[in-house]
Amino acid sequence: MTLVSREVFGTLPDGGGTVEKFHLESDLLRADVISYGCILTRLETKDSHGNFSDIVLGFDDLEGYLNKHPYFGAVVGRVANRIANGKFSVDGKDYQLAINNGPNSIHGGLKGFDKVLWIPEVIQNGVRFSYTSADGEEGYPGELKVWVTYVVEGSKLTINYKAQSSKATPINLTNHSYFNLAGQGSGVIYDHQVTIDADHYLPVDDTMIPTGQVAPVEGTAFDLRTPVELENHIKNFNLNGFDHNFCLAVNNELKQCARVHHPASGRVLTVSTTQPGVQFYTANFLDGTLKGKGGSVYPKHSAFCLETQAWPDAVNKSQFPSTLLHPGEEYKHTTCFDFA
Ligand code: BGC
Repeated sequence: MTLVSREVFGTLPDGGGTVEKFHLESDLLRADVISYGCILTRLETKDSHGNFSDIVLGFDDLEGYLNKHPYFGAVVGRVANRIANGKFSVDGKDYQLAINNGPNSIHGGLKGFDKVLWIPEVIQNGVRFSYTSADGEEGYPGELKVWVTYVVEGSKLTINYKAQSSKATPINLTNHSYFNLAGQGSGVIYDHQVTIDADHYLPVDDTMIPTGQVAPVEGTAFDLRTPVELENHIKNFNLNGFDHNFCLAVNNELKQCARVHHPASGRVLTVSTTQPGVQFYTANFLDGTLKGKGGSVYPKHSAFCLETQAWPDAVNKSQFPSTLLHPGEEYKHTTCFDFA
């Protein structure tokens, strides 16, 4: 049984509307999601002693989320991750997006889906958000109707994404939660053990755009097929952290792609997805300057993201699985975060 309740979370400036917070609670999970950016603002799970802690980074109030922050907990779109030089062409027409990450476009542009108010509706065990992105919004073609649902059942938080477009458009939706299984605000995640079930990953150039090569993980720092403890692994390979797409075997079935174990708390997160990729990001760009929940500070490597998604810059790389959604088709995918 999941209890679902709602309350006002805040008001957007300039008559932007009321933001609501939805609380989804089972015996094992407590999740808060707001209608601004579909942001997962809180996720409480039990440690091995049965004590709940909030394991996602974020802010106490709406103001925190309105200020600049690195997409804490948000649904990212219309296209998550990077598009080289913000350029692509579809049906012989060239499109130019805003450049907001070095020379590239990232996470849907200046005002992506993380910064808009969605229309909420309570459903069984969860909440569904809908949003219509106008033709040309942030430079993308076609009116896009989007639905995102969050459902809590037992130890699982499942996110479903669905979209339809009036013109062919690239699309890549994901959730950008920053997890720390020791509890948000408890410092670096070096004692976490990570497994990613991927035989290949995408090497990137110095602007973080995939080179186009699909490289085997075998014999590299990207071989996470058996559990690695981040501290040793980062040291041994002299890494700045991870910020890479891992290529998953695609069959459109919900399949486990990653597992993170935090021995000290006993927490385990298993991620399953229907998507062909997962961006594993170890919060390399956090620098301790943001004031988070309860006054928490968030230094470099104090969280990890597992952004299940299509491959970065796929719209410019025909050898990558396509991210184009055509009129009459439905974009659909599911990601499940399980804390069993
Ligand atoms: C990217 C990082 C970026 C972060 C916040 C991740 O999806 O891969 O490079 O810093 O999002 O924008």
